[in-house]
Parts: sequence; C-alpha cells; structure tokens
Amino acid sequence: MSTLLIVDDNPVDREAIERLLGRGYQCLAAASGDEGLTLCRRERPQCVLLDYRLPDYDGVHLLPHFLAQHVGVIVITGVGDESIAIASLKNGAHDYLSKNELTRENLERAVRNATARARLMQEVELHHRLVNEMPLGVAVFEWEDQNDISSLRLRWRNGAASRSPTVGYGAVGKTIGEARPEILETALPRLIADTILTATSQTLPDMAVGVAIYAIKTVPLGGTLAAVLFENVTAERNAVQERLKMEAQMRAAQRLEAVGRLAGGVAHDFNNVLSIVQSYGQFVRQRVAGNAEATEDVDVILDASKRAAKLTSQLLAFGRGQVQSLRVMNLNDIVTDVQRLLQRLIGEDVDLVVHLSPNLPPVEVDPTHMEQVLVNLAVNARDAMPNGGKLTIETASVVLSEGSEAERESSVAAGSYVTLVVTDNGNGMDAETQQHIFEPFFTTKLGEGGTGLGLSTVFGIVKQSGGFVGVQSAPGQGASFKVYLPSVTQPVTAPVASKPAPGSLKGTETVLVVEDEEMVRKAVCRVLRDFGYTVLEAARAEDALRIARSHPGVIDLVLTDVVMPGISGLELATEIGGEHPEAHVLYMSGYTGHAMVSRVRTDEGIKFVQKPFSTEELLGKLRQALDEDTG
Ligand SMILES: Nc1ncnc2c1ncn2[C@@H]1O[C@H](COP(=O)(O)OP(=O)(O)OP(=O)(O)O)[C@@H](O)[C@H]1O
Ligand SMILES: [Mg+2]
Repeated sequence: MSTLLIVDDNPVDREAIERLLGRGYQCLAAASGDEGLTLCRRERPQCVLLDYRLPDYDGVHLLPHFLAQHVGVIVITGVGDESIAIASLKNGAHDYLSKNELTRENLERAVRNATARARLMQEVELHHRLVNEMPLGVAVFEWEDQNDISSLRLRWRNGAASRSPTVGYGAVGKTIGEARPEILETALPRLIADTILTATSQTLPDMAVGVAIYAIKTVPLGGTLAAVLFENVTAERNAVQERLKMEAQMRAAQRLEAVGRLAGGVAHDFNNVLSIVQSYGQFVRQRVAGNAEATEDVDVILDASKRAAKLTSQLLAFGRGQVQSLRVMNLNDIVTDVQRLLQRLIGEDVDLVVHLSPNLPPVEVDPTHMEQVLVNLAVNARDAMPNGGKLTIETASVVLSEGSEAERESSVAAGSYVTLVVTDNGNGMDAETQQHIFEPFFTTKLGEGGTGLGLSTVFGIVKQSGGFVGVQSAPGQGASFKVYLPSVTQPVTAPVASKPAPGSLKGTETVLVVEDEEMVRKAVCRVLRDFGYTVLEAARAEDALRIARSHPGVIDLVLTDVVMPGISGLELATEIGGEHPEAHVLYMSGYTGHAMVSRVRTDEGIKFVQKPFSTEELLGKLRQALDEDTG
C-alpha cells in the first residue's frame, strides 16, 4: 500500500483528497509546512501532495526541502494559479494539480508519475555522485566538427579527472585545441574520435607520466559523445613487476637447491669409491716398493684420485654436505688472516683495499670455509681485471628489518647480520650471466681452465652457515658480491690449538671400526692391523653394540661412519659410551646430509676425518684422538 502525505492547512481540502483516493492508500496529514517535513522525514511516504499556500511557508519555498527527501512532490494550486504551477515545476516539483481538477483518476496518475520521477531523479543523482567520487578518472568529450579533430570539447569530468594535474584535459567547455593543443600530438584524440565514429571501446597502452603509470580506455556514450577513463595503476603494475622478480628469484633458488642435492648425493657415493681407490692404491704401492716403474704408475692413480677428491669436496661444499668445524668468531679476523695470501693471489696489478667495521658482532662459521669464500671471490675478481684494478673487501653489521628490500631480496629471515662485501672494478657481467653464476660448472672461462665451481662453493658454504650471497654487476661496471652471515650473541671462542703431528703412526690399542661400506671397512681395518692395532669390525650399528657389550677388554676408540642406515654414528657413540666410558670416538664422514651432523663443533671436542682420506691422515687423526687427555 502506498503512503501519501497531504500537507494542507485546510482540513476540508485534506479530507476531500483522502476521500477521493479512498482505500488502497495510507494517507498522512499535516496542517503546516513544519509538521509536513517532520512527518515526511519520519514516515518516508512515496509522495507528498503539497498545498502551495501554507501559513508558515509558501509551497515554492518548501519544495526543495521535500525534494531533498527523495519523495515525489505534487503541488496543489488554487484555481487560476497557473504561474505558481509553472514556477513549481521549474523548481523541481514532479507534477501539479489545480484544486478544480481533483478527481480520483487525476490524483492517481499524478501520484504514479511523481513517484516514478522521484525515483529516477534519485538514481541519477546517485550515479552522478558515484562517478564523481570514484578514483577512476572520467572525462566526457563531444565531437562537434567531425572534420576537425581539435574540436573535441570537454563536456564533463569527474572529481578524479579534475584533480589529476597531469592527465587533465583543460577546462570544461573548452576544446582540446583551445586548452591542451599539445595533446593533439598524441594518439588520444584520434582514439576518442574513432570511439565516437565506430561506437566501440578502445584501450590505450599504459602511459607513463613521470613515475606514475596510467591505464587509459575510451567508451562510446552514443551520438557524438565518448568518455575517456583513466586510472593510476602505478601500484598494481609495480606490484606485478615485484612479484615476477620474486618468482624468478624463487625459481633460481629452487634450481640451485635441486642441483645441490644431486651434487651432494653424487659426492657422497663418490667419496666412498675414492676412499677405496686410495686405500687399495696405497696397499699396492707398499707391495711394489722397490719396483720404480710400478710405483710411478700407482702414483699416477693416487694423484688422479686426489684430484677427483678435490672436485667432490667442492661439490660437497655446494651441496652443503661438508662437515663444518664451527667456531664463534669475528669475521674481521678471518679477513686479516687471509689478507696476505689474497694479495699474493691477485698479483701486483690489483690494489687490495680492506675496510673492516670496528664493531662487528661475532658469527658462527667454519674459518677454513670462510677463507675459501674469500679466496674464491678474490680470484674471480682478479680474473675479471686482467689489466689490473681495485679489489675492495668490506665488513659491516646490518639489521634486516621485516619486509625491507634487502630482506625480500636476500631470502634470509629478518634479523641481525654481518656482511662481507667483495667489490672489483673489472669486466662485470650481464643479467643473463648473473642468473647462472652460482650453479656448479657454470663458467665463462672455458678456454682458461675455469671449472665453474668457485661461486657454487661460495654459495654452498654461505647457505650452510645460514646466510645468503647476492651479486650486483653490469657489463663494464665491475661486480660486487655481498655475503650475509647471521650474527650470534655468544662470545668469541679461542681457536683449538692443533696438536703436534704424532711421532709414530703405530699403536697397540683396540679400535672398533663401524662402517657399512664393505670395501671401505676392509681397507680401514687392514691399515689399522698393519700398524699394530687390535681391530673389532662391525658393518652395522647393531653389530657394533653387540660387540661392545660382549667384548671383555677395553675399547680404546670407536671409529665410526656418521651416516649409516638405522642409527647414526652420533647415537651409536653415545650408546657405546655407556658400556665403554674409556672409548674415544673418531668420526669418518663423506657426506653429511643429516642436518644434525652437518654442524660439528670442534670446540665441543668432536673429532672427524673427512673421506676420502689417505692412510697417513687416518692414522694421524687416530693417534691424535687416542693421545688426547680425557678429563
Ligand atoms: N667478479 C666477477 N666479475 C665478472 N664475472 C664474474 C665475477 N665472478 C664470477 N664471474 C662470472 O661467474 C662465472 C662463474 O664463476 P665461478 O667462480 O663459479 O667459476 P669460474 O671462475 O669460471 O671457474 P673456477 O672458479 O671454478 O675456476 C665466471 O666464469 C664469470 O663469468
Ligand atoms: Mg672462480
């Protein structure tokens, strides 16, 4: 049921209207303008029948207040008041009725009209407000003289368009030719014209205005009108760029990760093979002692296997499978230690400049590995400066905050880091080269004997230390490698004094050898027996435990592989320690794919010998471990 509000000070007239409309309408009545407005706001009728003569207002003055309520307004005029009627319509009334034509039919039609028009007006106003308020810029053009493109006239624009200083099209009412003749040089006017002629939308390529990027589109509005819609898309476009960059970085990281696992796995098996070659090579060498020719041949085999061992150790470094001897230390000390060596490596044509930050927090690293990092970076720098140049090594301490650019680029967690920056002013590299430099065997020094393992070693070592290495370079602009290492809060530890080499490699102690690879185990046991030791042999951790339990005498040392099927060497050592507290432990390790054993701390007294090892290395480490004072 429609609700109507009758505003009339004459009760007779009010009732007459109510009677005419009869049932089907809910009629509210007000005797004054004020009362009418109050009722209108409260009851929200569809339509107001407004007597134009009221005691407190005249209808023309009251009209805007009702219109603002978005109701239909019909002005009821006295007989012969046509001028009033016209004035009301001009002021926005939706319809009028003279008192002498008040019939039910006329009333109903007027109410219908007025209500529909009020709703329409409300909608138009709503859209107008929305278009005006939205962030998308809208400018409406009309093309008057279709032979003259400069006659495109700006008819209207919304708030965003009028606020845009760069993309604005001059004043409303002016043609482009009058207001912005320089725009005539661009593709835009033609596009607007085409839009009007073909009545189809057109899209312009992104337009850069200063640092801002605008997406621009035209829309036909019928007849000679078209709108230009433009939107500042700088943030979105930059976000897309950013995302693409991140994805590329992610892919590169995943690729390195996969290659790393492969390299580590290969190196592991290879180390066992090389251990066998070296051990049995040594056996043969002893047997043929006295035969110079045979000795020479065997030496070639042994040399080749040493070279292979060096390669696998580089691969291991990349695969993050190297055993680290971690120490808490100041990175500056490492730089200072290798500085002389570096100067010799890079030659006299290259100036070495070192800037060490005086207040560096400590880092936990393997000093030998970090030296390797420095050497590899310096050698690369030297190679990039064949005619000499300058090599700068800097240390600093930085805090990567959450979401900072460095944090996002470096793929390490926010936190406190020590940085090592190695910069040269050599040949530099292009972006394509930079994408691959950390991959093993990527080299541009094919004719010059590069193996492409320098940077992959750096990468692996830094990764294993919980850090990140990045590069900045451009062709002809030199290169700068930046290594991030997480800083720690523990105090710096003193280096473990290395024991003097034992005088004799022989011994009479009892050694339990635990190694699942049969040929490696046989070789090790044979060497130990040859050098006087009593050897207990176990292929598996379970066997080792059984032997330890049942062996009546002392076990002076357990020589065990770190990674074995079933329980690990570390767990085994702990178990045996319960049975034989006198036993020292020496670990043999090829590849330590297990996180728990990859960070062996020398300051905690853990000893290991890296596979493949020579007889001397093994026996030397064994004697060191045995001769060490426990207590
Ligand atoms: N400082 C640098 N300036 C310019 N290019 C560099 C620099 N460092 C590395 N590169 C590029 O990265 C490639 C890979 O370096 P990487 O150290 O891994 O291998 P390599 O130096 O070629 O060989 P290797 O170090 O095994 O002897 C190099 O061949 C070279 O193209
Ligand atoms: Mg190199």
